[in-house]
Amino acid sequence: MWTFSCPFIAYGDNALDYLAQIRGKKAFIVTDKNIVKLGLTKPVTDQLDAANIEYQIFDEIEPEPSLTTIKKGGIAVGQYQPDWVIGLGGGSCMDAAKAIIILLVRPDLDPDGIVASDTYNFRDKARLMAIPTTSGTGSEATWAIVLTDTEFQRKVGLGTTECMPDVAILDTVMVAGMPPQLTAETGMDVLTHAIEGYTSTWGTSFTDAPGLIATRQAFKYLAKAFQNGDDLEARQEMMYAATLGGMSFGNSMAGLGHSTGHALGAIFHLPHGRTVGLFLPYTMEYLINGSEETTAKYAEIARFCGIGSGTDLECAKALVARIRELAKEIGQPFSVKDLNIDKAKYEESIPGLIDRALNEVMTITVTRIPGEEDLDKIFRYAYDGRTIDF
Ligand SMILES: NC(=O)c1ccc[n+]([C@@H]2O[C@H](COP(=O)([O-])OP(=O)(O)OC[C@H]3O[C@@H](n4cnc5c(N)ncnc54)[C@H](O)[C@@H]3O)[C@@H](O)[C@H]2O)c1
Ligand SMILES: [Fe+2]
Repeated sequence: MWTFSCPFIAYGDNALDYLAQIRGKKAFIVTDKNIVKLGLTKPVTDQLDAANIEYQIFDEIEPEPSLTTIKKGGIAVGQYQPDWVIGLGGGSCMDAAKAIIILLVRPDLDPDGIVASDTYNFRDKARLMAIPTTSGTGSEATWAIVLTDTEFQRKVGLGTTECMPDVAILDTVMVAGMPPQLTAETGMDVLTHAIEGYTSTWGTSFTDAPGLIATRQAFKYLAKAFQNGDDLEARQEMMYAATLGGMSFGNSMAGLGHSTGHALGAIFHLPHGRTVGLFLPYTMEYLINGSEETTAKYAEIARFCGIGSGTDLECAKALVARIRELAKEIGQPFSVKDLNIDKAKYEESIPGLIDRALNEVMTITVTRIPGEEDLDKIFRYAYDGRTIDF
């Protein structure tokens, strides 16, 4: 049996007005200090005030949130006993909210003990809302939680299907002020989710549909949003593309760009979108070289987005070239070397990178599953910016 899940979505102009309609008494807002400083909590708390809903702001979430911070949030939510938990921010805050709401009913748990096979029934106590302020992770429409184990420098993918937010509110005012670099990095994450969701071996027609549209919109609007942050149409379309991307990979699975990118990000402490976007074209080349099935799917994407012409192989290669062109246009690195990572240090870390990538489920939801040897080569080629020729 397969299932498709997504939240109830309020979107469009004044989408935050939806907050006035929710029923409840107390909301626990999970966010970060930067979001508070930027004034992005205010439009939310104004609505809660108007609706007579009390709230408490927990603003201690750091980018790529650590297990320790989640534990702290768990204690705070336990003391407050809300009937709504609101993840307000980028993927880090939304993911943190998903973990924290579980600790509300299971204060005994260590956050990395949240497992997909368990049932938590947190809705007996509180409901979950996500309000994204970046257009990237799609966390508002997935049940995935990505936390960082700082002790072992590894990312931990957690979550259960219960962690799908009940409500997602997509209001352009929350993303309109993103600086260009954050726009670019989170936008590359959208593109990677959409393409990997569409080509995942766990994909279905339900995940193909949002994956295709999200890819097309990212090609159409990402550079515009990067170049002119005031282009509200581009901002809105990228925000929708992020959610659609989440619906796609969240109901199928991401792929090799994510497993390799996660590994690099965990060891060298780099933002998620920058690393997965960097590995996307290399891992696509790897799949093209060994899988006619995925090549055909890339060609479908290319044709749908009006990229390239000719055979499946030609279209698939044109898609990879278009991704590289877009990445360049928005100032994203072409190779690991461009990230100013010392070559000797990088080479030393390759066994660790391989080990982390091999431990990700996303490494096996593709049509050509790399072993240690191929991963070693992928990591080395990506450092130098070489075309994957194996
Ligand atoms: N759950 C999922 O499905 C999923 C998918 C992909 C990634 N992730 C995870 O999400 C996290 C990354 O999330 P992200 O890329 O959204 O970034 P983020 O949440 O880590 O935020 C990065 C920085 O941008 C700032 N920021 C957020 N919104 C802003 C705005 N509107 N204006 C200015 N600054 C703003 C934040 O305060 C923070 O300092 C990682 O931990 C990643 O592993 C989760
Ligand atoms: Fe991602």
